[in-house]
Amino acid sequence: MTEKWAIVTGASGGIGLDIARLLAARDYHLVLVARSKDKLEEAQKELAQDSRQVRIMVQDLTRPGACDALVKQTDSWGIVPEVLINNAGVGAWGPFLDGNLELARDMMTLNMDALVQLTHHYGRRMREQQRQGYMLQVASSAAFQPLPSYAVYAATKSFVLSFSRAFNYEARRHGISSTALCPGPTSTSFFDRAQHKLNSSFQALMMKSPDVARQGLDAMFARDECHVAGFMNKVTAALPRIMPTSMIIRSAALFMK
Ligand SMILES: NC(=O)c1ccc[n+]([C@@H]2O[C@H](COP(=O)([O-])OP(=O)(O)OC[C@H]3O[C@@H](n4cnc5c(N)ncnc54)[C@H](OP(=O)(O)O)[C@@H]3O)[C@@H](O)[C@H]2O)c1
Repeated sequence: MTEKWAIVTGASGGIGLDIARLLAARDYHLVLVARSKDKLEEAQKELAQDSRQVRIMVQDLTRPGACDALVKQTDSWGIVPEVLINNAGVGAWGPFLDGNLELARDMMTLNMDALVQLTHHYGRRMREQQRQGYMLQVASSAAFQPLPSYAVYAATKSFVLSFSRAFNYEARRHGISSTALCPGPTSTSFFDRAQHKLNSSFQALMMKSPDVARQGLDAMFARDECHVAGFMNKVTAALPRIMPTSMIIRSAALFMK
């Protein structure tokens, strides 16, 4: 049995929980992070074995000091992760001016600020104590173009993609890679939470969460810079390179209605 640890944020459900399951199958000990204590405890019960430790950390990563508290806790457990999965993220659907500004600010804090903080803290520990590590930064196919009705969300994911790519370039000389995973529509509680009632074009593109999780982990362990999940999402992610931005935004707006 190895003593390799992985930290997964947003591990109480959806893509994060499926990633945690796959990491467990690869014999990683796990630290699972999210706000829902009951769901984390269920995941712990499912994944812990005599030979595998699963620790849970109940944290709202939008709160000031939450990332520091997580790092302090894992330090006190003596854990330096070989794998960091920055997966926790939320979206909010609808016209920007009709939306709640507090929710938008929390979204920016979770999707960008917490991800940057955890990458910095654990990246330093990986560099100094292991000289290697794998990070998966969960972005989105929304990272590739502006997205009316998801204006703030898509901008946060463009940030994640850009940050991850640049950090990956810098970190590789320390044996650390940062892979940006860009899923398209995936069947999780994401859209309910975003208050987005899905139209049929959306439903048709929907991928299964375990498939997205598997593709993300394969790309991370291959130390790929970026992985867009699914063929159709690869096609839509490529469109901004060949179509004028105004046309891309108009088509995206129609798709999002
Ligand atoms: N589903 C899609 O179509 C899709 C497409 C592209 C990208 N993504 C990205 O994939 C990632 C995972 O989303 P998902 O689809 O699996 O959605 P999900 O099922 O809603 O999972 C989101 C996870 O993030 C956690 N989370 C939310 N707010 C948090 C907070 N303030 N502090 C700590 N944890 C928090 C949630 O747990 P608690 O509520 O228990 O805290 C949950 O574990 C996100 O980054 C999302 O942007 C999803």
